[in-house]
Amino acid sequence: MEELSWGRRYLMCPPTHYEVAYAINPWMHGVVDRDLAMVQWLDLTEALRRAGAEVEVVEAVPDLPDMVFTANAGLVDGATFIAGRMRWPERAGETDRFAAWAAAHDLAVAHLPDGAVLEGLGDCLPLGEVLVAGHGQRSTTSAHAFVSGWTGREVVGVELADPRWYHVDLTLCPLDRRRAIVFPDAYDAAGARAVMAQIPEPLVLDADQAATFAANSAVVGRTVVMPACPPPVGRALEAWGFDVVVVDVGEFTKAGGAVLCLTLPLDTRLTRAVAAGPALVEDVA
Ligand code: ARG
Repeated sequence: MEELSWGRRYLMCPPTHYEVAYAINPWMHGVVDRDLAMVQWLDLTEALRRAGAEVEVVEAVPDLPDMVFTANAGLVDGATFIAGRMRWPERAGETDRFAAWAAAHDLAVAHLPDGAVLEGLGDCLPLGEVLVAGHGQRSTTSAHAFVSGWTGREVVGVELADPRWYHVDLTLCPLDRRRAIVFPDAYDAAGARAVMAQIPEPLVLDADQAATFAANSAVVGRTVVMPACPPPVGRALEAWGFDVVVVDVGEFTKAGGAVLCLTLPLDTRLTRAVAAGPALVEDVA
């Protein structure tokens, strides 16, 4: 089966200043054991490396506890970083830090139009030829339109109505070119139909399975690094030939995030390649 073209390089941020200091989603409560969080985070970096991925690290910043969730930083399109913009002021300070990291790592930095909110790849996932992006909770349809114009790809927007499913990456995990884990009940009816039409072989979660954050996983080739794996999900993945690696990220689910939230893929190419048309053929001849 044709593997995903991305998922071999990730940006992560250590939980040096991580805590649950405010609540901007309904999962956020409890006291974080920061030492344990660091152990879990290191375990995750190890699991990704063992699966064959590279991990880059951005320095953590005091008073930006959710900066560990790098998937919300922005979108990488080849050598360009499209800086995200956060919905809530508690996270707004992260954007400049991530943009500075990108600029220092030879990425051109692009910015969203005023007023557009886009919480990174965590709310805008490549799925086959399209991007699936959430709105209604965090990101805005104006941001979807910008990304669609930038990349030349269709952005399939899904309305996320239930506050528990505030980012699309809690409900969708592309596995390879034909398959994805998906929880369509989180979407409006038209959005669910449009997403399902893009997945020839879906692994559909029920609400209990989705609440384990099983869809919030990182795929490295044929390895699926997951925060939890309900047995029927594990059986389906193994029948398809995937290796499942479960990493306990329990200190991070206290803030409403898990594996994918903690890992921004740096090897995504979103701009659609322009097909060689007649003009190009003439140029060559
Ligand atoms: N506390 C963070 C927030 O609510 C968690 C972000 C999780 N990230 C994700 N990609 N789902 O913004």
